[in-house]
Amino acid sequence: MITNYTNSIKYKKIGSIIKLFGWVNNFRNLGNIIFINLRDREGIIQVLFNKNNKILFNKANELRKEFCIQIIGVIHHRNKKNINYNIYNGNVEIYAIKLIILNRSKSLPLNINVKNNEKIRLKYRYLDLRSKYMIERIKVRSKINNFIHNFMNSNGFLNIDTPILNKETPEGARDFIVPSRINKGKFYALPQSPQLFKQLLMISGLDKYYQIAKCFRDEDLRFNRQPEFTQIDIESSFSCSFQIRKFIENMIKKLFWNIKKIKIKKFNVLSFYDAIKFYGSDKPDLRNPLKLIDINHLFHLDEIKKIYPEIIKNKNIRITAILVSKNNILNNNKINFYSKILLKYGLKKLFYIKFKNYNNDIIKIYNSCKYLSLDKTKKIIKFLNAKKNDLIFFCIDKKDIVTKSLCYLRNKLGKDLNIIDKNIIKPLWIINFPMFKLNKKKKISPMHHPFVNPINNKIEIKDLKNNYKNIISDSYDIVINGYEIGGGSVRINNFEIQKVIFNLIGISKKEIDNKFGFFLEALKFGTPPHSGIALGLDRLVMLLTNTENIRDVIPFPKTHNYNCLLSNTPNYINKILLKELNISIT
Ligand code: AMO
Repeated sequence: MITNYTNSIKYKKIGSIIKLFGWVNNFRNLGNIIFINLRDREGIIQVLFNKNNKILFNKANELRKEFCIQIIGVIHHRNKKNINYNIYNGNVEIYAIKLIILNRSKSLPLNINVKNNEKIRLKYRYLDLRSKYMIERIKVRSKINNFIHNFMNSNGFLNIDTPILNKETPEGARDFIVPSRINKGKFYALPQSPQLFKQLLMISGLDKYYQIAKCFRDEDLRFNRQPEFTQIDIESSFSCSFQIRKFIENMIKKLFWNIKKIKIKKFNVLSFYDAIKFYGSDKPDLRNPLKLIDINHLFHLDEIKKIYPEIIKNKNIRITAILVSKNNILNNNKINFYSKILLKYGLKKLFYIKFKNYNNDIIKIYNSCKYLSLDKTKKIIKFLNAKKNDLIFFCIDKKDIVTKSLCYLRNKLGKDLNIIDKNIIKPLWIINFPMFKLNKKKKISPMHHPFVNPINNKIEIKDLKNNYKNIISDSYDIVINGYEIGGGSVRINNFEIQKVIFNLIGISKKEIDNKFGFFLEALKFGTPPHSGIALGLDRLVMLLTNTENIRDVIPFPKTHNYNCLLSNTPNYINKILLKELNISIT
């Protein structure tokens, strides 16, 4: 086992003898001296073999890149002229007195000292993990894991496992399914999260639970999603949403300080409604100062009709603007480019108002919407408090089209104008989500999952049925720099309400009994009020290691197509096993 890593050498006495293990990072034979850089997971040190010791020198001459070796040597100061100020151990080197070649190596299919093509990195992941870039991320991940365990334990939470072979879980994605050999024709599902089990633990009286849990979701991949990912999963009895939020704020503040020495001062709080109104998104990046500003009230029906005759039939209109201060980057080509992209979101036209200050303080206003009078244009400028050289984008369309389009535009402008400060952390809570949404098939479905409590505890069951569109849930998402880091809620602990929710989302009685019967039964045995949250560990590591690629923070990730290029998974299964499982594939 390694006791001395290369990074400890700096603190050892010059002249002392040290034993090191590692890999040859590079090799140079200068005739009388051989230099190698020995690399272990903590760094690199230069090792020197002198020709005076012929046997040792000849052995060192056999070394090549990535040979695995053990050396014993004496720590020396480097000559002043040889000090390398660019590397950590640049002022010291080791004079080798013993060398053991533990194993030879083929030449690597990738160069671990530079950034390689991702396909080759994933195929040879075990070699990619030798790179400093990956080791740093793995170390931060390990530190975060340890921090979480310490934090949760010191706050009285019990670390409890929950099963991996499960019944279907209702988190909204598809389940990964595992056939049972012993129970022919039956299947397990891998957990999308430990949601039901952590609630059952509350019924058991184990009032503070946490787990760093593996979760599995068969869903469309995005840049920050993986089919197999990790959650910091938490549940607590006798707690309200405010308490959970404060607890998590404390954890996140300490985590960022501990790992990156970043002080987080404030967690903003926004309702779901306001998040959509001001940012067009329920995960806005608050480092971006741009906001969506509704200007509906500045327009008369006649004007709207002129600008957009067909829209008037649709009452759900939104007229919204984004003000770009001191625009000196966005020319007409760029603006046309945005317009074209927004066609994809269904937006027919992106309008803009420019006004520049020319000589003698004459302000020239240009408005791309030909139906708007100069007076109206000035009204918009005044309402937005725009100054000379500012640029106003605005659009008028169906509410959801405007919201999606301007959300995209806000993000794009944030990047193009370089107005996002990459060095700050801006967390916020989005609270009070609607309980339900209409899914792609226009069926009522839960916004989060079916176990979320309505915000008003005294809500009547008939209200739930008659008024489902307006019911707000006692829920909260934590968003940091535009990433949804976690989500949670107060849970339903009332058997009747839980049943009604299942009914409302269209689960038949038979299906309820089959899928959730055990859970509904459990709710009848003195279920305490309880609430919880799950944080995406991988996304937290992304934030704490400044990467936008989730695969860079997972040791063995899957590709966009859910493949593991290293082990060639998924793979076909041998016919005998299929037969045993009673599965036929045509
Ligand atoms: P939710 O589905 O919001 O809540 O998940 C919680 C957090 O997990 C992370 N996450 C993912 N990370 C990587 N890849 C994925 N495919 C992926 N899916 C989700 C996100 C997300 O915010 N049971 C509830 C929690 C609760 O109510 O307590 C749940 O799983 O960061």
